[in-house]
This record gives sequence, structure tokens and C-alpha cells, in this order.
Amino acid sequence: MTRFTVNNQPVEYQLDPRTPLLWALREASNLTGTKYGCGSGDCGACTVDIDGAAVRSCQVSIGSIEGTFVTTIEGLSANNDHPVQRAFLAANVVQCGYCIPGMVMAAAALLRRNRNPSEEDIAGAITNLCRCGIYPRLVEAVGRAARMARGEDDGADTDAGPAAATS
Ligand code: FES
Ligand code: FES
Repeated sequence: MTRFTVNNQPVEYQLDPRTPLLWALREASNLTGTKYGCGSGDCGACTVDIDGAAVRSCQVSIGSIEGTFVTTIEGLSANNDHPVQRAFLAANVVQCGYCIPGMVMAAAALLRRNRNPSEEDIAGAITNLCRCGIYPRLVEAVGRAARMARGEDDGADTDAGPAAATS
């Protein structure tokens, strides 16, 4: 039995402790916003937050994170209204959408530790892969999300919506 917290809910997984967190989330908890891309730690589609850090959940066994606090894209915000989600929608970052939950989680973790990231900071912190080529708009949107989080941009033309949470 492995115990930790997912999206503020205590969980106990009756799974082999070597089970990757990605599969516990998707198959045992039905949190399918966290995506499988490569399974080798390269693409970032499976990124979640563990104790404040962006982590590739395909590379973490549930047995190794006993007692931690995990946040998935479903738990990032109450109404898909995290500044990153709002900025992504406003900038039309989303193309096919497959990489977006992981991108959002990586961006949100970056903004928690760096309130004013440079383009280089963003590129260095968000190494997730996107087959649709969203990178220029991604950098722009993360920069705007940072300004919104700092209160320098009221985000008046942004809106929250389901696409930012589960696409
Ligand atoms: S599925 Fe985890 S990094 Fe690609
Ligand atoms: S939006 Fe299609 S993979 Fe990134």
C-alpha cells in the first residue's frame, strides 16, 4: 500500500510500489489529463507537480513518493483559471492539445519559483516536447501569465475554459 495526496485528497494505492505514478493517476484515479507520450522521461507530456516541483510522472514510482503532495492538471485550479491556463487560451497556444497539460504544469511550477522569468528562463525550464510547434506562443503566454500573477496585467481579454484543463 502506498499513501500520498493527490489534488488535496489522500490516496492509498493497492498497487505494486514500482508502478509509475503516471499509470496510478490515469488508471487507478482516472486522472487522464496527465498524458503518456514517450514513457522514457523525454517528452514531458506526463508532467505533474510533486511538492512544488514539475516531475515527469512516468519516471517516478509510487513507492518513492510516499507522503508527498501531488497535483495534476485537474487539481491546478478550481475553474481552469490559473494564470497559465488563461494566458494559454488567450494566446491560442493549444493546437492538438496533447502536450498542453504537461506544459501547463511545467509552466506553473516555474512561476512558483520565479515570478519574473526571462525568455531564457522559460526555455530552460520548460523542456517539454510539442509536435505542433507551439514554442513561440508558449514563451509569450508564460511571460504573460507571469505578469498576470504579479498583478501587472489584469487578463481582461482572457477566459477560463475546459480546454486548458484536459486537452
Ligand atoms: S511520457 Fe513521461 S516524459 Fe514522456
Ligand atoms: S499542441 Fe500538439 S503536441 Fe503540443
